[in-house]
Amino acid sequence: MADNSEQYVPDFDISRPTIARVYDAILGGKDNFKADREGAAAYMNHVPNSREVAIDNRKGLEKGVAYMARHGIDQFLDIGAGLPTMRNTHQVAQEINPEAKVCYVDNDPIVLAHGRALLADNKSTTIVTADLRNPQSILDHEEVNGFIDFTRPIGLMVVGLFMHFHDSEEPGEWVKHLLDACPSGSYLLMTDFADTGEEQQKAIEKAGLESLGNGWVRKPEKILAHFHGLPLVEPGLDWVSRWFPGEPDREVPAAEDLEPHLRIMMAGLGYKA
Ligand SMILES: C[S@@+](CC[C@H](N)C(=O)[O-])C[C@H]1O[C@@H](n2cnc3c(N)ncnc32)[C@H](O)[C@@H]1O
Repeated sequence: MADNSEQYVPDFDISRPTIARVYDAILGGKDNFKADREGAAAYMNHVPNSREVAIDNRKGLEKGVAYMARHGIDQFLDIGAGLPTMRNTHQVAQEINPEAKVCYVDNDPIVLAHGRALLADNKSTTIVTADLRNPQSILDHEEVNGFIDFTRPIGLMVVGLFMHFHDSEEPGEWVKHLLDACPSGSYLLMTDFADTGEEQQKAIEKAGLESLGNGWVRKPEKILAHFHGLPLVEPGLDWVSRWFPGEPDREVPAAEDLEPHLRIMMAGLGYKA
C-alpha cells in the first residue's frame, strides 16, 4: 500500500453513529462504538434479519468483483469501501488475478485508519479519504491518480452506498461524472435498496432514518437509471441473493419464493462498451 500515513491523525466523533461503523456493527465487526451499536440495534429492531441483508450485499460485491476480475479487469475503484471485513474487494480480485490493483475510497477517516492496518503489506492496494459527492476530488486525488490508470478499463464500484443519498441530491450525476472518466471496457457495479412496495423495504428505510438520518429505498427503475444506459451483464438488475452475473441460465428461486428480507437489496453490473 502506498504510504501517506506519517502525518495522519484520525479525527472522528464516536458520540454519533457513522454509516461505516453501524454497518460494521450489523455485520458483527468490532470496529464500532456505543452510538453505532445503538444504530445497528435500530436496524435489527425494524428488520431482524439486517445482518443477513448486509451479508447478502457483501456476497453481491464478491460476485460482481469476481465476474469483473475473470473478464480482465485488473484495477478497481471501490467507492464507499467500508471497514475491512470478510473477503474484501482486493482479496476476491487477487484470488483470480494476483496482479489486480484496488483503490479503496471512503469519506469516513476511520476506514482509512483500519484499512491501513489491513493493507500495510499489500503493494497492490491503497486507500484514500475522499467523497463521492465531489467526484472530481476523487479523480484529482494524487494517490488515486498515481494508482489507477484512467486509460485502461476500470471496475468502478458503488456498493451498499447509494441508499444513503436522497434523489434530491441527484447522486446519479456523481456516478456519471466518474463513469465519463472511465474508458470503454470498464464496468459499474452497484447495489441499492429497492422499493417494490413491500413492508420489509419500508422497515429498512425507517431503520436508516432513525439511526443515521439517511437510508432510502428506490424504485428499481430509478436504480437502473443510475447505470446511465449502460447495458447490464445478464441477468440484469436483480435481487442480490439470486443475482449471478454472467449466469442467466442458472436456476434461481422465483422472486416471490425469496424470504422477504432477501427482497431488499438489488445488484447490477453495467458494461461500458
Ligand atoms: C454501508 S457501507 C458499504 C461498504 C461496502 N461497500 C459494502 O457494500 O459492503 C457504506 C460506506 O460508504 C461510505 N460513505 C458514505 N458516504 C460516502 C461518501 N459521500 N463518499 C464516500 N464514501 C461514503 C461510508 O463511510 C461506509 O463506509
